[in-house]
Amino acid sequence: MRIGIIGGTGGIGEGMALRMAPFHTVVIGSRETEKAQVCCRECEEILMKKGLSCSLIGKTNQETVDFADLVILAIPFKFLVPTLQELKGLEGKVVVSPVNPIEKTGEYFSYVPPSEGSAALLARKLLPEGTQLCLAFNNIAANRWRDLDDPLEYSVAVCGDDMGAKRKVMELAAGTPHLRPLDAGPLAVAPLVESLTPLLLNLGRFNRMKDVGVRFF
Ligand SMILES: NC(=O)c1ccc[n+]([C@@H]2O[C@H](COP(=O)([O-])OP(=O)(O)OC[C@H]3O[C@@H](n4cnc5c(N)ncnc54)[C@H](OP(=O)(O)O)[C@@H]3O)[C@@H](O)[C@H]2O)c1
Repeated sequence: MRIGIIGGTGGIGEGMALRMAPFHTVVIGSRETEKAQVCCRECEEILMKKGLSCSLIGKTNQETVDFADLVILAIPFKFLVPTLQELKGLEGKVVVSPVNPIEKTGEYFSYVPPSEGSAALLARKLLPEGTQLCLAFNNIAANRWRDLDDPLEYSVAVCGDDMGAKRKVMELAAGTPHLRPLDAGPLAVAPLVESLTPLLLNLGRFNRMKDVGVRFF
């Protein structure tokens, strides 16, 4: 599967690229080609030191959409609207939102969803008809993705209205060692998954725990 990561130069994008590139062709997308290519070289070096071969390409965000079968929106919530308004050709693709609309007020994090109810529901409104949108990977911290010595012993809640797309996203998660994908229902329940993240951040902060995640048994 050809995985494209919009904003793949960021914390979670680069971490996901590191974990997925040994198993898939991964395109790291950026607003700047040069930045994407530098990020690819850095990831290749990290993986090579671990003795892992990989398939990584750096492109603009639009070229990433054009090339990929599955597109991950690894951008901060505040850039979701302008980014989706700019990108063309997402219809027919599987699109994954790990986006969490959260804010820090003083000492704690809060869930601050848009009027649509969640980031994924806002994305659904903006994406062209025929886009197969799913939500996944919202509750795993970027540092955990990046630390390749640390097994990702987490559950991945996956939401979506298209069963075929959801299956592909669950397969992608299951192909990443130790991750356990779970069907969390339709996209309508996206607020429940997204709002878990500020809870995890607050638990980490107030209990001096690092990069708290979830595992459902
Ligand atoms: N960080 C985490 O631990 C974590 C965990 C779970 C979910 N998430 C979610 O994943 C998403 C990405 O988080 P992140 O921490 O990886 O974000 P980030 O590092 O702050 O940013 C990701 C990328 O967004 C791009 N970007 C910056 N300004 C932009 C703009 N004005 N327009 C379009 N793109 C812009 C940049 O790529 P270029 O400059 O290369 O274009 C940047 O590398 C967020 O929605 C977050 O809620 C994050």
